[in-house]
Amino acid sequence: MRQPSTDIIHLRESIIAELNQIRNFCIIAHIDHGKSTLADRILELTESVDPRKMREQFLDTMELERERGITIKMQAVRLAYTAADGKNYRLCLIDTPGHVDFSYEVSRSLKASEGAVLLVDAAQGVEAQTVANLHLAVEEGLEIIPVINKIDLPTARIPEVEEEIMGLLGGTREEILKVSAKTGEGVPQLLEAIVARIPAPSGDSTAPLTALIFDSHYNRYQGIVAYVRVMDGSVRVGDFEVSEIGYFAPELTPAKELSAGEVGYVIAGVKQIGDARVGDTITLAKSPASQPIAGYREAKPLVFSSLYPREGQNEDELESALSRLSLNDSALHFEQESSEALGFGFRCGFLGLLHMEIVQERLEREYGLEIIATAPSVAFEVVTTDGRTHFIDNPSQMPERTEIAEIREPFVLGSIITPVAHQSALIDLCKQHRGELRSMNYLSGTRVSLQFVLPLSEILYEFYDSLKTLSHGLASFDYDVMGYRTSELVRVDILLNQERVGAFSFMAHREKAYQRGKQVVETLRRTIPRHLFAIPIQAAIGNKIIARETIPALKKDVLAKCYGG
Ligand code: GTP
Repeated sequence: MRQPSTDIIHLRESIIAELNQIRNFCIIAHIDHGKSTLADRILELTESVDPRKMREQFLDTMELERERGITIKMQAVRLAYTAADGKNYRLCLIDTPGHVDFSYEVSRSLKASEGAVLLVDAAQGVEAQTVANLHLAVEEGLEIIPVINKIDLPTARIPEVEEEIMGLLGGTREEILKVSAKTGEGVPQLLEAIVARIPAPSGDSTAPLTALIFDSHYNRYQGIVAYVRVMDGSVRVGDFEVSEIGYFAPELTPAKELSAGEVGYVIAGVKQIGDARVGDTITLAKSPASQPIAGYREAKPLVFSSLYPREGQNEDELESALSRLSLNDSALHFEQESSEALGFGFRCGFLGLLHMEIVQERLEREYGLEIIATAPSVAFEVVTTDGRTHFIDNPSQMPERTEIAEIREPFVLGSIITPVAHQSALIDLCKQHRGELRSMNYLSGTRVSLQFVLPLSEILYEFYDSLKTLSHGLASFDYDVMGYRTSELVRVDILLNQERVGAFSFMAHREKAYQRGKQVVETLRRTIPRHLFAIPIQAAIGNKIIARETIPALKKDVLAKCYGG
């Protein structure tokens, strides 16, 4: 490949000033369908990255992303492209994550784009996440370009996948592009389609400034770097306290101005986390916009766990690390709490289990903290007999049984896409997890899509693993939160030596309480070391004991002394 000179890129940049030569787009896909690989090919074809610096999955910059091969944070990059019509276009590609926990990141990149490339693996076909992300994109009114990837695979089943895509989007076979992100086949045609089909941004560069902050990161020297999409007007260095403006090439590259339709970054000496939040609108005080841009749906945490610093570490460090992380992860919520056994820590809210795992790993790796995390649980709405509603994310804070009029828990609408052969096993699985079948649609002769209403707490444990085992890894699962509904829930307490241990209390459905109580006491019997006296472990609902085990006392070992002990 020829080496792109930075001068050429800058020259091309300066030629493009017309709004109608800008295309902002993102790629949406199910996890592993090849988004990052396709982004690599596009970077190469548009000669946007020095070949010496090119490496696989260029846009996955976090160490954790590269290691796990998944995208967590979105990235943006500006590309210069000369199309077949001879004109120079400026493409802005915003990479997005594919996992369900990160769908709030997807919705942010959609707001900054006019079009989306819907990428589907030729061997896997349409998956649950493809459908979820597609709905988000259609809601935002984006132009969708359907693309089948991995056509080089011997297992590619192009005609069937075309059927599945047409079933979702309508349209004709001819509108669906076929590419191999691995070999590069079809990628030039895709670039042409992006220019031809995706509309140029609309916006008025003479109007008052409105710029949407779609992401941000913290730089120790410059403060907050806000990633923005300018909707109207323009912003220059010197406006309010702007010290630097620029675009992503993909590294931050300073420029003189950003105007309507452009995506870039703004540094304005904002040091306080919270003063430039994702979803905020930037405008100018001397000629302010009358209305902020409609922001994002706030990402609500669903899964809760407490994080405590390990012995010898201090909670201030943990607090400052959590505030920094929450700056570019708007879905992370935390508040201080304390526990008798663990000291001061933070009750944190996450979007899901993967989100929780990623936050914990980032705290350990990026901030060098060692933490202790409690088992994840969901939050409940409790109506007490005095008519008040409480939001309770910690079972030990649940009011007494006699004061509770009603308990509600979060429910989700889960979608499963599976080969027909595994359909009945998966229906059974959902029923065991208190699921109710809502609908069933055949996507093609061999694959079916199932919709279930399920309590969120039921999919936190084992559900996903069982789904993968039962379907030999072929089924995919995704869910949308539906809200809170009444459930027959009870709090199960664990008593050690007749004393209740708050941290072990958990909520369970009435019918499953006995079985889970039994499991917990058995596990504790095996893990708690023996003492000189016997210790009873009991599970109780209110005053009623539902399970009991005993840790036997240490026996006197008469022979031990005879062998030099
Ligand atoms: P996330 O970042 O986790 O959302 O995944 P992704 O969609 O970015 O997938 P990625 O680009 O990491 O690709 C997943 C796997 O598919 C990698 O092992 C790629 O090498 C492989 N892959 C991607 N495109 C092609 C293709 O066209 N042909 C073949 N044979 N393999 C491909």
